[in-house]
Amino acid sequence: MAENKKKLIEVKNLSKYFKVDKGTLKAVDNLTFDIYQNETFGLVGESGCGKSTLGRTLMGVYTPTSGSFRYTGRESLEVNKKNLFRYSKLAQMIFQDPYASLDPRMTVGSIIEEGMIIHNMYDKQKRQERVYELLEVVGLNKEHANRFPHEFSGGQRQRIGIARALAIEPEFIVCDEPISALDVSIQSQVINLLSDLQKKLNLTYLFIAHDLNIVKYISDRIAVMYLGNIVELASSDELYQNTLHPYSTALLSAVPIPDPDKEAQKSRQIIEGEIPSPINPPPGCNFAPRCPKACDICHKQKPALKEVKPGHFVACHLVK
Ligand SMILES: Nc1ncnc2c1ncn2[C@@H]1O[C@H](COP(=O)(O)OP(=O)(O)O)[C@@H](O)[C@H]1O
Ligand SMILES: [Mg+2]
Repeated sequence: MAENKKKLIEVKNLSKYFKVDKGTLKAVDNLTFDIYQNETFGLVGESGCGKSTLGRTLMGVYTPTSGSFRYTGRESLEVNKKNLFRYSKLAQMIFQDPYASLDPRMTVGSIIEEGMIIHNMYDKQKRQERVYELLEVVGLNKEHANRFPHEFSGGQRQRIGIARALAIEPEFIVCDEPISALDVSIQSQVINLLSDLQKKLNLTYLFIAHDLNIVKYISDRIAVMYLGNIVELASSDELYQNTLHPYSTALLSAVPIPDPDKEAQKSRQIIEGEIPSPINPPPGCNFAPRCPKACDICHKQKPALKEVKPGHFVACHLVK
């Protein structure tokens, strides 16, 4: 399905390294991939593998260490320092922690209005109307505009965060684990809201999660990340039915199946060993030290992400 779609974000050899005491931390290392218009692009991987760094780099929060990315939506631009302001009218972010991400001193109305002011959108009265409208859109109401974030529950705060992101009418939204901090009972409400909004407003999501059940449910395509690299990328169904990378296999086998009988029968693959450090990683495949199938070449040469079937990309020497 996705193959014929138009690209929205075109990522080329993108890296984001951090200088740390012990050397260079390769949080995002030489990634090349596309995000298509209107899709939900799921990004999964263990904590520390570089998901948020990738999300922030694609928001323009971090300047890439090397490589680049292009945006081709309402506007077409190679995103760089010069056009970051223009880009910030097209792309927005929803954060993991709805407590830390809303300024406690601002009213909900002014939080939502802020982006419209920055981008010089509408006059005061129209902005006020938009704030009320957005509150309704996310399942709150206009009376909430004069209240402060602390008066709301986690789920309601996340709705406020969504309204704020929508206020400037973006096309692309990075959702960085937007439901991880919420009670299980309200997670699906927020997911459903995001899905409805996507259809209504033609949004494109980069949806970051460590919970594979959620990613599977919401994503059109999924990228599996390991220590700064994308190791596998495919449509959701394909990734689950025809998992090719040993790391993805291990990650997916760790997802509990809701049926206890099936769960008991399932063979579970345990990933041996600690996650190695992304600081000064050794040559070869980053996963090799933990991979049950690793052979000589895996320790010597880094595998490129290659398309092994239409739309199915894998970075593994053992997959032909
Ligand atoms: N500002 C920073 N300075 C130094 N190291 C960082 C910074 N941000 C993230 N890192 C490191 O980069 C790696 C990836 O982090 P992150 O992108 O937050 O991973 P994830 O979101 O997948 O948990 C981690 O090793 C983390 O410690
Ligand atoms: Mg993160």
